[in-house]
Amino acid sequence: MTEVLHAREPQPEALPTSDSDPFLVVENLTVQFPTHDGLVQAVSDLTYCVGLGQTLGIVGESGSGKSVSSMAVLGLHDEKRTRMTGSIRIAGKEVVGASDQAMRRIRGKEAAMIFQDPLTALHPFYTIGAQIVEAYRLHNHVNKKTAKQRAVEMLDLVGIPQPDRRVDDYPHQFSGGCGNAR
Ligand SMILES: Nc1ncnc2c1ncn2[C@@H]1O[C@H](COP(=O)(O)OP(=O)(O)O)[C@@H](O)[C@H]1O
Ligand SMILES: [Mg+2]
Repeated sequence: MTEVLHAREPQPEALPTSDSDPFLVVENLTVQFPTHDGLVQAVSDLTYCVGLGQTLGIVGESGSGKSVSSMAVLGLHDEKRTRMTGSIRIAGKEVVGASDQAMRRIRGKEAAMIFQDPLTALHPFYTIGAQIVEAYRLHNHVNKKTAKQRAVEMLDLVGIPQPDRRVDDYPHQFSGGCGNAR
């Protein structure tokens, strides 16, 4: 099921979920940035929820708070420069005010983000495989060889041709997403 939430329009009622508790619950989320020019109100009173297996698309004009609210879900804001109120729960765990340590357990395992621009999101000096292996081993007690096999499987899963070779490529060797994969 795909629901679309327009960032500048009145918030809909919490989306219905078929069974148990929704996986992601965002309630009355407000994100503000104190700056030299005053307080930037980036997100105000945002409420939504997403059940397991549901897809939610958030649509809105540039600057309406899509990125800021999504980054907040993974606790990716600089705590010292951000004022956040409300509640974000991932599988029942509160994210607002959670410690870095608690967020590291959630991030990359229970919740993850695919960033808009892979060339800036991935480290240019490390191979794709090394970066997948690093994230995988943070959450799974396996050796490098096993983690690399999983990396190849995951590349295969998303349709990367010759995954056993491409795993050793650097980010700039990958397609920019315009259908010009090698
Ligand atoms: N770190 C920051 N400091 C101050 N203002 C910010 C910061 N990050 C984002 N903003 C402002 O918050 C608002 C929402 O931004 P954003 O979520 O990036 O919009 P978009 O919907 O285009 O993804 C914008 O006005 C943006 O300029
Ligand atoms: Mg954005």
